[in-house]
Amino acid sequence: MQIGILTISDRGASGEYEDRSGPIIQQILHGRFPHWPVTHQTIVPDERDTIAQTLREWCDAGLALILTTGGTGFAPRDVTPEATKAVIERETPGISEALRAESLKITRHAMLSRAISGIRGQTLIINLPGSPKAVRENLAVLLPILPHALELLTNTPGTESQHRTV
Ligand code: MTE
Repeated sequence: MQIGILTISDRGASGEYEDRSGPIIQQILHGRFPHWPVTHQTIVPDERDTIAQTLREWCDAGLALILTTGGTGFAPRDVTPEATKAVIERETPGISEALRAESLKITRHAMLSRAISGIRGQTLIINLPGSPKAVRENLAVLLPILPHALELLTNTPGTESQHRTV
């Protein structure tokens, strides 16, 4: 069950800002699922084609899960949902609906996230917002369902549920 973490940020990619959200995702995932290695992690600018190409390559590499962070808002260069849509074959709206619904209980600004999620082959791709705070809040909602979701997707019943903590 290999994982990829893709930070999408112009300023992160240029080195102007240090990426904090990618490492936070890595740390939280490792704490909860230490048996799932993060094998792919990088930062790309808010360029639709670059994002889509990276997602395709990581899906082809056989990753079970790709979490993206950033680029889901309303700014002109926020194109993560469009790049993701170009890559996925089946949408998983329940995941993104739940992330937004739970986030709305914390901040009304959650309605400004256009994040989507979906499946390409045997890879689940989920957009998360960019801020470390938003990442933490979204992961708290997402992590409990991940083992069962990935079990279904990779058709390996039972292998992950024994690690389930909820
Ligand atoms: N979701 C949660 N849980 N907590 C947050 O603080 N911030 C929102 C939203 N979702 C937020 C959140 C804000 S302010 C924006 S603009 C959108 O995510 C999009 O963020 P992004 O452009 O960094 O992807």
